[in-house]
Amino acid sequence: MKLKIAVLAGDGIGPEIMEQGVAVLSAVAEKYGHEVSYKEALCGAHAIDEVGDPFPEETYQACKEADAVLFASVGDPKFDNDPTAKVRPEQGLLAMRKKLGLYANIRPVETFDCLVHKSPLKDELVRGADFVCIRELTGGMYFGEKQEPTVNAEGIEEALDTNYYSRPEVERILRVGYQYARQRRKHLTVVDKANVLASSRLWRKVAQEIMGEYPDVETDFMYVDNAAMRMIQDPRFFDVMVTENTFGDILTDEGSCITGSMGLLPSASTGSSTPVFEPIHGSWPQGKGLNIANPLAQILSVAMLFEYFGLEKEGAIIREAVNASLDQNVRTPEIQVEGGEKYGTKEVGAWIVNYIKNS
Ligand code: IPM
Ligand code: MN
Repeated sequence: MKLKIAVLAGDGIGPEIMEQGVAVLSAVAEKYGHEVSYKEALCGAHAIDEVGDPFPEETYQACKEADAVLFASVGDPKFDNDPTAKVRPEQGLLAMRKKLGLYANIRPVETFDCLVHKSPLKDELVRGADFVCIRELTGGMYFGEKQEPTVNAEGIEEALDTNYYSRPEVERILRVGYQYARQRRKHLTVVDKANVLASSRLWRKVAQEIMGEYPDVETDFMYVDNAAMRMIQDPRFFDVMVTENTFGDILTDEGSCITGSMGLLPSASTGSSTPVFEPIHGSWPQGKGLNIANPLAQILSVAMLFEYFGLEKEGAIIREAVNASLDQNVRTPEIQVEGGEKYGTKEVGAWIVNYIKNS
């Protein structure tokens, strides 16, 4: 297969983990005879500094022309601490999602047996937990009408975000949820806040209407506050959960506590144009340049990329290599066993590339 990949390394630890992601992608392509070409493009704080736009037109074109985008992370503290900044790196990520029509964000939450002790939760609770969060990615509060903090006529400062959803937006993401559930353990949990939010009542209404089309899937409904609790009380309850943009953002960070590290969770964003594969974590500016960031979320995003194109063997060899690295304690500091040798970003990546080449 021929694959054109747009490479958006972004900020913070982005370029370091991207280097390893690309090395793994190339190693797998070489092993299985695929022809891959890369085009690097600017995004995030980096792009603001260079061209004044966190998602420049040139980057958009590179994404549109590619078969897939491999994305690392964006964000920089100089913007985080300035609420008045007119342009922010995160707007680049949001613009990419919106412009590419990436409405479905697939976030698997899995456990690795050898890492269950890294979870702050009890071993017997998290062992074997394995679910997928399907997060709606181009709607809700992230994109609804906004008003930045402004002083109103009574002299009170106010701000607004609107949690807007339309029926077609809700229906298409629910159907993605059902498709995933069908390929898995046939259990879909629709997470909403229908006891309070009108937008959630639309979600529930649409779900109740279409669930009859999926009689082989067991559908249940859960309020998001309850889901947040259930996730740490009994994570094995979940198979596929589907939810709106904001709830999905929050719940998947919580999900990383089940796995044991933010550095282990990949994701795929799909929709009407080029799919994007990216870790769920941010740019971790404090870790930048120190060769300590975990490259596994990025590397597992590459596995998801291959699997998206139906290249199962290619995905499987990456997963096998990642598991082997963990089993053999080739780990970055945050998941290394006490007293064990700490491997850097580069060393973990190189070990995995080597495993792939030699297997
Ligand atoms: C994520 C991130 C982004 C989000 C930020 C960086 C805009 O937290 O991908 O989960 O909130 O969607
Ligand atoms: Mn997030």
